[in-house]
Amino acid sequence: MKQAALFRGAAGRAGSRSGAAQAATALGIGFAMLVAVMLAGLGLSTPALAQTPAIHLGVEGCAGSGCHGNVEASSRTDVQQNEVSIWRARDPHARAWKTLQEPRGQRIARNLGIADAGSSAQCLSCHTDNAPAGQRGQMFRISDGVGCEACHGASAPWLGLHASGIASHAQNVAAGLYPTEQPQARANMCLGCHVGDGSRFVTHDIMAAGHPRLRFELDTYTNTEPPHWRIDADYRARKGTTDRVGTWAAGQIEAANKTLALIGSRFAGKGGMPELGVFDCTACHKPMMPGSFDAAAGRGIGPGVPRLADANLVMVRVLLQAFDPKAAEALRADWVNLHAASRKGAGAVAGAASAVRSRLGAASGYAGRSYDAAGRRRLAAAFVAEAGNGRLSDYAVAEQATMGLGAIVAGMQESGGDTSAANAALDIVYSAIASEKAYDGAKWNAAVRHLGETLAGE
Ligand code: HEC
Ligand code: HEC
Ligand code: HEC
Ligand code: HEC
Repeated sequence: MKQAALFRGAAGRAGSRSGAAQAATALGIGFAMLVAVMLAGLGLSTPALAQTPAIHLGVEGCAGSGCHGNVEASSRTDVQQNEVSIWRARDPHARAWKTLQEPRGQRIARNLGIADAGSSAQCLSCHTDNAPAGQRGQMFRISDGVGCEACHGASAPWLGLHASGIASHAQNVAAGLYPTEQPQARANMCLGCHVGDGSRFVTHDIMAAGHPRLRFELDTYTNTEPPHWRIDADYRARKGTTDRVGTWAAGQIEAANKTLALIGSRFAGKGGMPELGVFDCTACHKPMMPGSFDAAAGRGIGPGVPRLADANLVMVRVLLQAFDPKAAEALRADWVNLHAASRKGAGAVAGAASAVRSRLGAASGYAGRSYDAAGRRRLAAAFVAEAGNGRLSDYAVAEQATMGLGAIVAGMQESGGDTSAANAALDIVYSAIASEKAYDGAKWNAAVRHLGETLAGE
């Protein structure tokens, strides 16, 4: 059997055996029997494992004590084993389905004429682990919200192998565990909900009915989820190194990619009106401020023209500006074409969006890699220069740039630098975007300039 071979290959990694495997040894039962016992408990038979149906077993399937259901973090095991407790108590994903049943969710539903948000596919696609009906195990509950398997993958195909504790991470991944530690794969997974994709999208109708504007930055949001993992020596040995700026870059490229796909496919709205959900919300939703339009942003569209959502694309341009100015220039030209196309109709937009998308490949080498001090300085300098030229001042762009600068400072801190001055300067940049209503681009620019001076002095 294929799995037996996998187990042999994994022998010798006794140090990472899970509590379940240790318990099995203590009880004197073999591993195959343990798998059968576990699967029976989950309402599955062993042959079901061999067929590896992508069944979602539900959060309960992970919550055993000695697995991930402990109350306190364990210092003896590689993983903390209290992941379910952290998720239940503090992770917003655990209440994502309940949100739909609460007044704010119900109000959105009422405004849209949806009878019950908690059972509407329009909402479930992002507010729970919306596995197809035939792929839900006996303990799966839609009310669990965005549970373990929404991010780590349907567990039936890999749970037995994984719970044995004798398989390496790579072997678990080969069996179907989602590689959440890889920045690009993580970006693709998180952004499917936090930006949208072919099957999930927050339309302007849903926004206007009361849904909050979506915003996301992979590095910042990964670290505020809150983390139920510990990045320490054994983590790095099992999964490799992580880099804050590399994670940021992976998130920006994938967010730009997904946004462009949505722009290309969704631009043509209903009744001759474009779908406003693919535009930059803050192009229209801000107080009237005579004197705030600034051609310096460089999009080439005149005053009074709403801009397509491009904050992530602008971030990719800043990234390339730092490391590959020629590619940045090519991307800039296609970005200008995209904005021009928004006045010509859906066909032109789809063509221009796909042209910009194909430019993103030039940046992919900068995603998920490690940045040294010189690399971080170069990227920070590109941010400061672009902000100084007035190209990052639009709110949604400034918001992304702020989180990007945050990733740079976090990267400095993790590599042992003294970042007290930089962190104080970063706080001022953050406070300049704290209120969408009171936002003042000139103040934000000044704060970025100050941060730039601090970083140059490091
Ligand atoms: C299946 C869809 C889905 C996936 C996948 C997903 N999220 Fe979420 N996320 C949500 C929803 C829905 C909410 C809002 C929950 C609520 O408040 O009810 C949310 C909220 C959050 C919040 C809180 C935001 C805030 O403003 O308070 C963070 C942080 C977050 N997600 C990070 C992540 C990260 C990091 C990933 C990937 C590792 C991820 N999410 C993957 C759907 C998803
Ligand atoms: C494309 C994915 C997606 C879809 C579709 C979606 N949502 Fe959300 N929703 C999110 C994310 C992501 C958040 C968190 C936003 C943030 O804080 O950044 C969220 C937040 C919310 C919030 C605010 C939660 C809070 O704690 O403040 C409510 C309420 C909500 N959604 C209701 C709905 C309803 C009702 C529907 C269906 C009509 C729906 N959503 C459809 C992704 C989605
Ligand atoms: C919103 C997405 C998301 C959800 C929901 C989620 N995780 Fe995670 N999980 C992650 C990310 C991101 C990481 C860190 C990257 C990595 O190591 O894979 C992670 C890491 C882990 C780790 C690895 C720790 C290590 O040291 O290797 C475990 C164990 C884990 N999660 C268990 C769970 C359990 C159990 C649940 C359900 C209660 C859960 N996760 C829910 C995204 C998620
Ligand atoms: C091209 C301009 C335009 C863009 C871009 C735009 N909207 Fe709107 N939005 C409108 C108009 C017009 C209304 C209806 C206003 C009214 O009823 O008074 C509206 C209504 C709303 C409302 C209802 C509350 C209100 O202010 O009337 C919300 C919330 C909203 N939009 C959010 C968003 C979000 C989030 C985005 C970005 C995804 C966005 N909008 C993009 C023009 C826009």
